Amino acid sequence: MKRFTTVAAALVLTTVTACGSGGSGGSDEADDGTITMGFAQVGAESGWRTANTQSIQQAAEDAGIELQFSDAQQKQENQIRAIRSYIQQDVDVIAFSPVVETGWDAVLLEAQRADIPVILTDRAIDSDDTSLYETFLGSDFVEEGRKAGQWLVENAEGETNVVELQGTTGAAPAIDRKEGFEEVIADSPDIEIIATQTGDFTRSGGKEVMEAFLRSHDDIDVVYAHNDDMGLGAIEAIRAAGMEPGEDIQIITVDAVEAGMEALAAGEINFIVECNPLLGDQLMELAEQVVAGEEVPERVVVEETTFTQEEAEAALPDRQY
Ligand code: AHR
Repeated sequence: MKRFTTVAAALVLTTVTACGSGGSGGSDEADDGTITMGFAQVGAESGWRTANTQSIQQAAEDAGIELQFSDAQQKQENQIRAIRSYIQQDVDVIAFSPVVETGWDAVLLEAQRADIPVILTDRAIDSDDTSLYETFLGSDFVEEGRKAGQWLVENAEGETNVVELQGTTGAAPAIDRKEGFEEVIADSPDIEIIATQTGDFTRSGGKEVMEAFLRSHDDIDVVYAHNDDMGLGAIEAIRAAGMEPGEDIQIITVDAVEAGMEALAAGEINFIVECNPLLGDQLMELAEQVVAGEEVPERVVVEETTFTQEEAEAALPDRQY
């Protein structure tokens, strides 16, 4: 009891109950059959994340699933603490989007021993033990990196110096988007990554790193940003340096959130690879199946597209995020 109180108290700082008001907790579903899900979110670092959180909260409400929601503020230790709290509460299912890829086996083993199924959403973990989770719902980040690289290979003219704004160090989308991009440009000796650094998936991080790149390099042709927010930060830095983003320096990003799409339509970004954050409905369906003991696929990949400037203009009026 003492342990439960301590863990719960520590979590209050970052926990929001999205649906219901605390409720009965899990214990193999409430008497009325309501499923309780504990969801440990990465944080609120980007427009993508905001849209993803809204999608999950809305989908839980629509499905009648009671959601215990926590925001880890991009810190793995906060996510682990949240997951332990959900185990203590004996929720019916735990879902989370891991901040980084490694270091999850111990806490997921605790969930397994407590007989609580776990669903990975958005980001994968790096573990040899795939029995620690039921399924992984999310994008193919390596493919996203390949699409970004492919556009550059098709559009680069002559020697092309690229600076890369990486996502959070150790996070699956940062590792995979780098890998996919490098794989595709490897056959184009004229394209070179001359600098690469993390901007932590935030606009301020992207701006700060781009300012430093501009101070140390006067020959930047292209920015490859692992998300829109960092690309938007880079736009501010390029402008402040007296150059035109999208013209003097071309920009490729990933996500296609509204602010990114507006910048693309305005010619400040040149190409965006979509990463769909609207995972809520699929997640709730998988949760219902898992709690009912039904078989689910090991991997559910989200369908995505890409946008040029003209395509962004056409898509913007119907965009949901
Ligand atoms: O894991 C998805 C990535 O996380 C998004 O591309 C980025 O914007 C977010 O922070």
